[in-house]
Amino acid sequence: MSDSAPRPPQPSNEALQDLLRVAFAAAELAYSPYSKVQVGAALMAADGQVFSGCNVENASFGLTLCAERVAAAKAVSAGVTRFEVMAIASSLDAPMMPCGACRQFLNEFAPGLYLVVQGKQGPRFGARLSELLPHAFGPADLR
Ligand code: THU
Repeated sequence: MSDSAPRPPQPSNEALQDLLRVAFAAAELAYSPYSKVQVGAALMAADGQVFSGCNVENASFGLTLCAERVAAAKAVSAGVTRFEVMAIASSLDAPMMPCGACRQFLNEFAPGLYLVVQGKQGPRFGARLSELLPHAFGPADLR
């Protein structure tokens, strides 16, 4: 099990607010004609680079990509796999928590990832990925 994965430091409030701003801007670019929900993610890597993503839907609904996986795939395809913080923003009032598939996808790279989630209204939610996906299946289980 990978529950003893490295934990990046807790980000400052200012860093979280900055990353949330990027996530809300990314949400504006959502392609979501079916659900009409706009989701944005901003992923900060250990080297300080930020990768954004939005949800991308498809007429074949099951092909929909979540914002979180788009951001993570952008980072990986740029050669960046050390992730520290992800901000997730949506057009809904309440924080839109990352789906199970996205939790698993992110766990591959960063079980200690700090997540901050905010909707249009109300308080933001913050937690480590390992709290949202305890006893996760990951790369170490295949060694
Ligand atoms: N969605 C995300 O982008 N991230 C999640 O973690 C959950 C759901 C998107 C997929 C779809 O376009 C819309 O939100 C409604 O499910």
